[in-house]
Amino acid sequence: MTGSVVQRAERRTRREVVSFVRRSNRMRPNQRRAWETYRDRFVLDVPRLDTSTSIHPAAAVDLIEAFGRDAELIVEIGPGAGESLIPMAAARPQANVLALEVYQPAIARMLSRLARSGLDNVRIVEADAVAALEHLMPAGSVDEIWLFFPDPWHKSRHHKRRLLTPEFAALSASRLRPGGIWRIATDWDDYAYRIRQVLDTNPYFISVYPNGWAPRWDARPITHFEQRGLDARRQIFDLAYRRVG
Ligand SMILES: C[S@@+](CC[C@H](N)C(=O)[O-])C[C@H]1O[C@@H](n2cnc3c(N)ncnc32)[C@H](O)[C@@H]1O
Repeated sequence: MTGSVVQRAERRTRREVVSFVRRSNRMRPNQRRAWETYRDRFVLDVPRLDTSTSIHPAAAVDLIEAFGRDAELIVEIGPGAGESLIPMAAARPQANVLALEVYQPAIARMLSRLARSGLDNVRIVEADAVAALEHLMPAGSVDEIWLFFPDPWHKSRHHKRRLLTPEFAALSASRLRPGGIWRIATDWDDYAYRIRQVLDTNPYFISVYPNGWAPRWDARPITHFEQRGLDARRQIFDLAYRRVG
């Protein structure tokens, strides 16, 4: 991808509206213990700009050093407490899996699970995925992006908070290597159709499946968020797009 495409993607992603609610990061005692015990092992220290989920534009993180090896890189955006990330990372031991999550108590729960699992191919950055992709990931460095059950912001006056915008798609395209895959799932039909529209109109993405929808990805365990959608009789939409060009 040319420098100008990358620069355009970066210019367009600076935003005031974020896709998450700035909640209190207060943790329960067991979460605090997990945070303090395992943080140094799994959570990468990154320089901040202003807020605790920002990343300084001049930040540099050596992911090879952080993972202790050079390997295929998977980035999961918003894994919550890692309910699907951990079994999926266990199923891909040859890959480095980087979790981008804004909510510290969820990260603390993920740390407990990680420690119990014995996995060593997961690292976590506590940050807005927009800032993390923009400032920590070199262009073309990511093999796969996972985005499962992003916050739907289903009221129309909140749609502007949805993460998957044309600008975010452009940023993600610039970080994926050619041939890299973006896997997405949501239980909100209007968001699913909007995501298709956004990715179908981005020249750097093509649907892996000719009819636009992916079959349910077997590797993805059902999380509480997916189950909540199923219980409410919402359809689950899977999408898989390949970075081309
Ligand atoms: C609805 S939950 C889904 C959790 C998980 N993916 C699952 O399927 O169970 C959405 C998650 O995305 C996180 N999130 C929202 N916006 C984010 C952003 N811009 N960067 C990183 N994480 C974000 C939230 O904190 C939350 O943990």
